[in-house]
Amino acid sequence: MVLVSGTGSNLAALLAVHDDPAFGGRVVGVVADRPGIAALDIAREAGVPTAVVSLKDFDDRAAWDAALTETVAVFSPDLVVLAGFMKLVGASFLGRFGGRIVNTHPALLPSFPGAHGVRDALAYGVKVSGCSVIVVDEGVDAGPILAQEAVPVLDGDDEGTLHERIKVVERTLLVDVVGRIVRHGLVVEGRTVRIGA
Ligand code: GAR
Repeated sequence: MVLVSGTGSNLAALLAVHDDPAFGGRVVGVVADRPGIAALDIAREAGVPTAVVSLKDFDDRAAWDAALTETVAVFSPDLVVLAGFMKLVGASFLGRFGGRIVNTHPALLPSFPGAHGVRDALAYGVKVSGCSVIVVDEGVDAGPILAQEAVPVLDGDDEGTLHERIKVVERTLLVDVVGRIVRHGLVVEGRTVRIGA
């Protein structure tokens, strides 16, 4: 199960491998927090069911989170992948799926969490950034780290050029981590987290 908000390059990478039995799992559905995004087109073209749960259609965040939880639960997912999902999931969602939600983030956490990881890393002036795949908890990009990959910052990089280079590395890392989780399971014990043998 994949949650998206944007262009869907990470989703596309997962869809490119999910028909291969060696990958070990399938994307059973894609849920977005807004209509009209490229990621939804990518899902539809792959024949994967989609749903949209927009915050603006609900009275408050808790009601939106409850609706998101019910929408995702219909798919009975073993694993929920936040692939460019730009909203924080709440208590209801964590109560139902906690311990089996992973997120990909375009910075080397715990540095530069939040919605502007690439921009914030550039503004700080780091010479190396990268991407992180984490287990989602109640914090903002604060859960246990499963994998990271470094990407050098080049002279003249702007947010767009650096993010594009990070995304190339990120999609490979995400496919690798998700594949290992669906094949071997995810064991979470507090902040200790590991992918099964
Ligand atoms: C990815 O780089 C992902 O790490 C980032 O949004 C991009 C989505 O790209 N997510 C965050 O910044 C979450 N804090 P995509 O829609 O092409 O997969």
